[in-house]
Amino acid sequence: MRTYRLILVGFGNVGQGFAQILREQGEELATQGLQAVIVAVSDLLKGSVYRPAGFSPAELLDTVQAGKSLETLDATAKGWDAQRSIAECEADVLVELSYTDLKTGEPAVSHVRQALQRGMHAITTNKGPVALHYPELAELAAEKGVQFGIEGTVMSGTPSMRLGSELLGAAGVTKIQGIVNGTTNYILSQMEDGASYSDALADAQAQGYAEADPTGDVEGFDAAGKVVILANVLMGAKISMADVDRQGITKLTSRDIAEARAEKTRWKLIASVEKTADGVKASVKPTLISMTHPLASVGGATNAVTYSTKLLGDVTLIGPGAGRLATGYAILGDLMAIHRSA
Ligand code: HSE
Repeated sequence: MRTYRLILVGFGNVGQGFAQILREQGEELATQGLQAVIVAVSDLLKGSVYRPAGFSPAELLDTVQAGKSLETLDATAKGWDAQRSIAECEADVLVELSYTDLKTGEPAVSHVRQALQRGMHAITTNKGPVALHYPELAELAAEKGVQFGIEGTVMSGTPSMRLGSELLGAAGVTKIQGIVNGTTNYILSQMEDGASYSDALADAQAQGYAEADPTGDVEGFDAAGKVVILANVLMGAKISMADVDRQGITKLTSRDIAEARAEKTRWKLIASVEKTADGVKASVKPTLISMTHPLASVGGATNAVTYSTKLLGDVTLIGPGAGRLATGYAILGDLMAIHRSA
């Protein structure tokens, strides 16, 4: 049995989803020789605690779900910020789940860098550090002999990154196209069923799909960040957010959506990146597709990605793209990958 001591920076939807998975699947994981112990949580709103022997997922969840601060728990240290927790806690893996900032990547990028420098593995579902600093952070992880797990940054726990890198890498991926933002796909589906834009968005927020600031979703920034990640991680490109030709869904009206439906077509926010002679061409745009198109049936918060490859043709992956358990599962997938390589 190998034990991994984890620091969770951020204990919102995703952190709680992950804790819920550990609470429910802990015994099953043990049969695979893996024990995950949360030794520290640092959250700006819910409090920060460190206990070297670990907290049970149930006590963490019960405390926040009762509306209490984590600092009401017995702990060796309380009130440490993320930086101090990473510097002083005895741990093996940083799980970085602070809020996403696609302009600077902070504070997540500093947290990840600090953990890797200390020789800890880092896992994040936060797009900021990966969209903005992947080459540097991956190189630092390699230099320190640790892993940088990023599965949850695209399609949440649906293994889009692992499929694209480990399983399709040798097939030669030339183009990736799909639906990579759950919130906008959910809003477009709900509007087609007659909901207003604002009700559909409020619903997406309540379900935990939307970013803390949903402008990132509806204006296409979240999808653009994912396109950068797909391009840089899976195609070896070096593009930035500014290289993505981006347009969100905010200009689409209920009338546009109803008219499309009457013509047996459907609006989808399509993300795309394609290899070209001089690099890659990347975009995120509302696109009118026929009802018979494979992506037309991908509704709600579900995501889909089609990898066009030289040797296999098209391979399509469909699965959850957002949500607390689906994204929490991505962390488990990355932890299992660390475990398999140990
Ligand atoms: N806000 C994102 C989405 C979450 O709606 O897809 C997952 O990255």
